[in-house]
Amino acid sequence: MTIEEINQKVFEEIGKCKDLKTLEKIRIKYLGRKGELTNILKSLKDLPIEQRKKIGPISNNLKKLIENALDEKRLYLISNHELEPLDLSLPGKKIPHGHLHPFTTLENKIEEIFSALGFEIVESNEIETEYYNFDALNIPANHPARDMWDTFWIKNDFQSKNKERFLLRTHTSPIQVHYMETHQPPFRIVSPGKVYRYESLDASHDIQFHQLECLMVDENITFANFKFIVLSFFQQLFSKKINVQFTPSYFPFVEPGVQINISCPRCNQKGCSLCKNTGWLEIAGAGMVHPNVFKAVGYNPKMWRGFAFGIGLERIAMIKYNIPDIRLFNSADLRFIKQF
Ligand code: PHE
Repeated sequence: MTIEEINQKVFEEIGKCKDLKTLEKIRIKYLGRKGELTNILKSLKDLPIEQRKKIGPISNNLKKLIENALDEKRLYLISNHELEPLDLSLPGKKIPHGHLHPFTTLENKIEEIFSALGFEIVESNEIETEYYNFDALNIPANHPARDMWDTFWIKNDFQSKNKERFLLRTHTSPIQVHYMETHQPPFRIVSPGKVYRYESLDASHDIQFHQLECLMVDENITFANFKFIVLSFFQQLFSKKINVQFTPSYFPFVEPGVQINISCPRCNQKGCSLCKNTGWLEIAGAGMVHPNVFKAVGYNPKMWRGFAFGIGLERIAMIKYNIPDIRLFNSADLRFIKQF
């Protein structure tokens, strides 16, 4: 090709070009190592001086013009996203997405089990008044049983209408009182929620954790109904046969009060480090609702009977998933969460 021919063709080709691949081919065709214009530039040295003086500047000038035109076109194609032809057979980009926190999965599972047993799920406030957290539950001021719960009190400048102190609820039991004040028996409810205690932290204690409260009230509720519900719940939760044991305990809002122990689901009572070789795990506080609690909500204690229990959900999750330290739940450590 002569310089004129190149001049005529190259700009037309760049103008018509619609993608980067073709543009690169054009560059190679004219400016590549063996390109049309490169050949002319290379042959300049063999030309007589007169001709060289004439053709030299023209071809160098043309080279610059072509380079500019190529650059401009490249920018145009990139900014118009006319990059490469779209290959629909390529695998898509994986968008990383999260999953439920093990705790949420557990909570859902527990709610599912209780719903199937006919329980309603009820929730309530995490900030409570002294009355709901203590007094209505048969724990009057100055009663030594208040020491069972290390409490976060909210500063005195914030008081309820009747000058009561506010606090972060220390257990989910106040939900019982709220519910009974506004509903008549018979009923069965479970209430999951966060609770707070002013404690020093260690592998099994956190200042914020979750409990699940269970309350069933009817005319003739007995310990037998209670045991059936507890057994069905734990067997479904751990998907295996579990034994339940009640041992005497004390909570002001129940009478009699018990501690629920379950057979160790890890070793099936053979003895392991989890159950400290006893075969049993302490799992919940429970008992038959105290008549004073019924009185506080306006129920006739001679007419109604009920049972209640409260379980720590972190403890259950730790047993179910072999988690050694309660502080891992809120550590925001993805290495922990991604295991589930
Ligand atoms: N509220 C008690 C606690 O937090 C547990 C409990 C609930 C005990 C219901 C008896 C009945 O320790």
